[in-house]
Amino acid sequence: MSADIAPNAPAASPVQKGLEGVVASDTNISDVDGAKCELSYRGYSMDELVGKAGYEEVSYLLLNGSLPAAAELAAWNRELAGHRPLEAELLQTMERLPFGDPMAYLRTVVSIMGLRDPQAEDLTRLRSQSISLIAKIPTIVALFDRLRNRRAMLGPRPDLGHAANFLYMLHGEDPSPEAVAALDAYFVLLAEHSFNASTFAARTSVGTQTDLYSAITAAVGTLKGPLHGAANTKAMDMLKEIGSEDRVDAFVKQTLADHKRFMGFGHRVYKGEDPRAKHLKRYAEALAAKGEAKWLRISERLQQAVWDAKKLAINVDFYSASLLNYLGIPADLFTPMFACARISGWCAHVLEQAADNRLIRPLARYTGPKGLQFVPLNRRASPTAG
Ligand code: COA
Repeated sequence: MSADIAPNAPAASPVQKGLEGVVASDTNISDVDGAKCELSYRGYSMDELVGKAGYEEVSYLLLNGSLPAAAELAAWNRELAGHRPLEAELLQTMERLPFGDPMAYLRTVVSIMGLRDPQAEDLTRLRSQSISLIAKIPTIVALFDRLRNRRAMLGPRPDLGHAANFLYMLHGEDPSPEAVAALDAYFVLLAEHSFNASTFAARTSVGTQTDLYSAITAAVGTLKGPLHGAANTKAMDMLKEIGSEDRVDAFVKQTLADHKRFMGFGHRVYKGEDPRAKHLKRYAEALAAKGEAKWLRISERLQQAVWDAKKLAINVDFYSASLLNYLGIPADLFTPMFACARISGWCAHVLEQAADNRLIRPLARYTGPKGLQFVPLNRRASPTAG
């Protein structure tokens, strides 16, 4: 404890419900400016990176602090390619797991990977384990879909990059350049977002000096919630429930009357539109030009109607839903897709936390009874007794 803080001072601090506004640490990985609605990774704004740097470059940037030179990127790509395939024993285990909720499956597989790694506890290996997880998570997600649909398993191809490999492994065919560009941009845009709930869970885990797999298992479990990563799946469900543009206004009215939430709207930090949304919309539009534009038209009208009714702006999950849907990705895989991207941010934060660690242990203000006298079991009244 620092000498200038009295032992009981923090307990007297006002409670910040949901830790809103609390600055928990310094970080130099990304900057989320809620007032200006800007996001940057290591000093590069999204407007600067998207469409210029691919996901591999961005994962290098996040983990290493600067963009790679050509030779460094080539070596990074070789490393990722070498880590993408899954070991035969892990594949056998994956085949035997129940094909239930895709995020529960992913969370379990990451945990099993930790169990299977004899050096999981060696914290000097955090960096190499991180690269392995960044490479393997998309392989796991694509294979999960093939396994549950009883389709032949496809391994990653060394000639394809990160986004192209995922689409190839999922669909079993060479993806179009537009599809690769859209997924690559999606991965870049969702790679990192400062102290969001899942990243904070990862940092809290590793703050205890536990292993990387435990930290990422916690992060996947946290991302799974509908107020965080699962909002993209729920946003797609919402678009499907609306079904056509002319039903948007009635849907908005009903949702307001039922006091329900519009999925893909609102944000704890951004005071206006999420800076990633316009890019996701642009890539979704490029894909829609080749298919049906219905989901985008419903989205645009809904975006306006919710703004008019409640002054709520869209967040990253809103146009992610249309983009991923146009890529032929099943809606229940949208949250695992988020994990495929965010694994880079999680790992960068684990490395940053481990490099300058202090146990994360906040306080709570106790509001229950005090000073109760112990009553022996045979003299306690049953709550159901009249
Ligand atoms: N739809 C309808 N109302 C919403 C809303 C939404 N998407 N998001 C916030 N609100 C309303 C709440 O009902 C609440 O209104 P009230 O004060 O009248 O009760 C107010 O805005 C504040 O909500 P609160 O949940 O306290 O804000 P938060 O900062 O904790 O919420 C989110 C942030 C992201 C959890 C919230 O906006 C949300 O639930 N969004 C939908 C899920 C989603 O898209 N998540 C992905 C986030 S990237």
